[in-house]
Formats: sequence, C-alpha cells, structure tokens
Amino acid sequence: MNILILGSGGREHAFAYKIAQSNRCENIFVAPGNAGTAQIATNIALSVTNFKAIESCVIANKIEMVIVGPEDPLVEGIADYFSASKALKGVMLIGPSKQGAALEGSKERAKEFMTQHQIPTAGYASFTNESLVEGKLFLETLKAPYVLKADGLAAGKGVLILNDLSEAKQELENMLVHSKFGDASSKVVIEEFLDGIELSVFVLTDGKGYKILPTAKDYKRIGEGDVGLNTGGMGAISPVPFVDEVLMKKIEDRIVRPTVNGLKEEQIDYKGFVFIGLIKVGDEPFVIEYNVRMGDPETEVVLPRIKTDLVDLFEATYSQELDLLDLELDERSAATVMLVSGGYPEGYKKGEVIYGLEGVTDSIVFHAGTTEKDQKVVTNGGRVLAVTSLDSDFREAIKKSYQNIEKLSFNRMNYRTDIGFDL
Ligand code: AMP
Ligand code: GLY
Repeated sequence: MNILILGSGGREHAFAYKIAQSNRCENIFVAPGNAGTAQIATNIALSVTNFKAIESCVIANKIEMVIVGPEDPLVEGIADYFSASKALKGVMLIGPSKQGAALEGSKERAKEFMTQHQIPTAGYASFTNESLVEGKLFLETLKAPYVLKADGLAAGKGVLILNDLSEAKQELENMLVHSKFGDASSKVVIEEFLDGIELSVFVLTDGKGYKILPTAKDYKRIGEGDVGLNTGGMGAISPVPFVDEVLMKKIEDRIVRPTVNGLKEEQIDYKGFVFIGLIKVGDEPFVIEYNVRMGDPETEVVLPRIKTDLVDLFEATYSQELDLLDLELDERSAATVMLVSGGYPEGYKKGEVIYGLEGVTDSIVFHAGTTEKDQKVVTNGGRVLAVTSLDSDFREAIKKSYQNIEKLSFNRMNYRTDIGFDL
C-alpha cells in the first residue's frame, strides 16, 4: 500500500525508515519531510495543518495509511476531518481524534482526566486572568519550587519551574495578564513539584486494547550535566535501565490501563500513540504529562527496537485488533545523540553543508533538520541529525554513536558528549 507520514523531523525519518522495511509498503510519501526522508520516500511540500491539501494528496497518490508525526494537526482535529470526509473513507489515519488530542492540547484537561480516572499525578489547581488573586494565594500554600504550566500548546516552552515565591507570582501574572505564551497561557495550571527521576512510556492503543512499546529517557537540556535551556531533546536511550518489572507493573496497573479504559469510558475515539511522561518519586510513578504522538528523539530509539512489522501494527490499530498481534522487540539497547546547530535552542544559522554522512557505519543517521541545496545536504533547523546505535549494552551503543559522530561535521555543529551520564 501507499503510506503518507506527516512531519519533517527525526521522528518522521525514523517512521519512514521502519516502514520502508515492510514488504507491505509500496510507496512512502513524507510531507514535508527532509533530506533524509527524500532518500527513501517522496517528499511532498505541504503544511501538516492544511487538511484540504493533505486530503488532495491522499487521493492523488492513492494513499491508504497516514501516520501523523507532530501534535499540531491532531490537536486541530485531523482525525475528525478524515472521519468526516467521504472521499477519505477507509483511509487508515493513525492518531487520536481532537477530543483525544486534548490530553496534550490542554494541561487542565489532562489533569481533569487523571483526577477522574484516579491516575497518580501531582496536586494542582488552574487559574485564569479573573482568578489571578486566588492563584497567588494558592502559590502561598505550596512549597518551593513552584511549577507553572501554560494550559495550551507552547512548543515545549510553556512550563516554568521557579524557586522564589515572589518570582512565581510575577510569572503567573506575566502568563495570565501579559500573555507570556500568547493564548496558550490564558489559563495556567499550578502544580505541586515532584522530586524524582524522569522516564517516558510509549503506548499504542486502538481504543480497546493497547501495546506497551519500549521505554525511553530523553535529555532535554542543552548543557552537559542537564543544565541550561530546554531543547526539543538532545539524545535518548531505550530501554530505561532503572525500570524493572515491579515498576513496570505499577505503571501498567495504575497508569496505562486506567488511561486506555478512561478513554474508552468517555467514548473518545483514540487510535494512536500515548506518550506518557513520568516521574518516579521514590518507587512510585506519577504522570507529569500526556503527549498524543511519539517523542522526538525518543522515536529514534524506540522504533529501531521494534521487530514487528510497523504496517501490520498500524493496520491492527486502525481495525481495533491490536490484542491479536504479538509485539516482538529487539532486546538490545538503543542510544541516540542529537547534533544541533550552534546557538540552538536560541538563534542559529541554517544552510550549513553537512560532511561525512557516507562514512557512517554501524549507526543509523536520522535526519532531523536538513534539506538539499545544490545537491548537497545542508542544515535546516536547530536539531539537525540524530545518530542512533544499537548494542547489547547501552554504554556500548552510546560509544558507537560517538565514534560515528567523529566522522560528521558542519559549521558550528554542537552536541552533548554526556548522553547517559546519569545512568
Ligand atoms: P511538561 O511539559 O509538562 O512535560 O513539563 C516539562 C518539564 O517540566 C518536565 O519534563 C519536567 O522536567 C518538569 N516538570 C513538569 N511538571 C513537574 C512537576 N509537577 N514536578 C517536577 N517537575 C515537573
Ligand atoms: N522529546 C520530547 C518530546 O518529543 O516531546
């Protein structure tokens, strides 16, 4: 069949890479894609939120399956658009309905869902412009650090963690009154701070059953030792070495199953990924966020460890037969290291020529922000390449990635040399 992947990052290159291995797939299209996806698929220049253009592309190319990479089209209702269109009848779109995607699109909605279904998470209250005074009083009842979250999508930047009470009150005001994160912060969720170690669990659900995919841990800060500004992710490891059977059982019993059952109870149409961000406090898991898509760069370590044909997996998701399928995993560990443009996550230059791609052996190079110019691969984003390796030991996998990175270069290339340092 012909398959379309929406998005342009390392996550989408990893989807294309995996789908290209399936003998069920004839042609792969990626919209808009990057220089990496162009090598294994046909890139189509269109915006992931232009549903009309996507519909035309699906029809013109006889596409039978659509994988949605990023959250924006999901939160804006691409799944509902597909369900409502007669011309798209039977096209297998992998991604939740708008109602399901609100678990990522609204932090308040996610908290209400967790409260409703008794899923462990930090205590909270939410406030608007009208309740600013109450919000400041609520902050006084908490202990530092203070966690403020813009309710809406803010490109991963909408969470502030502050040590000082007066600063927290000021930032609450900046968010609610001065639109610090635009519309996204017209409502703010204030949360209890959870002190622990983070990990992510990925679930694929068909709305009835689910498969738990490999766990992963990402490294969000730009600086070594986890300091400095937040990024989209500087590297990732899968599986998370400290997750044992006991912890995984708690996560499944208290979080995964109640989440899937909660969606079912509320009759929410959900055929897609649930990416659950967790903090382990002592030995107990708590949810810090839901995402309704795969992570990036987590996908670049999770997918290479899935042996089951991805097209089969998605077809079973669409036809609600996931329970009938066996999920087969590669027991090895995967590590990825992200090469970024100098200056990222602040200002950076694009268009730098990338050297050495052909010399990489033993690692998979997923393109994150690249394009082709004058028949050369050049940088086209803050995050540029994700170098993934597999080995029986995660330390060896990391080592392999670093060895291959030695062969790659572009002007002002930057990366963290300490991925996995804390494990
Ligand atoms: P989120 O966008 O909700 O994942 O938040 C971004 C980051 O803020 C998370 O990855 C955590 O590192 C941190 N964080 C969010 N909520 C909490 C919390 N309640 N306690 C401690 N850290 C948090
Ligand atoms: N790496 C974090 C995310 O994709 O949200």
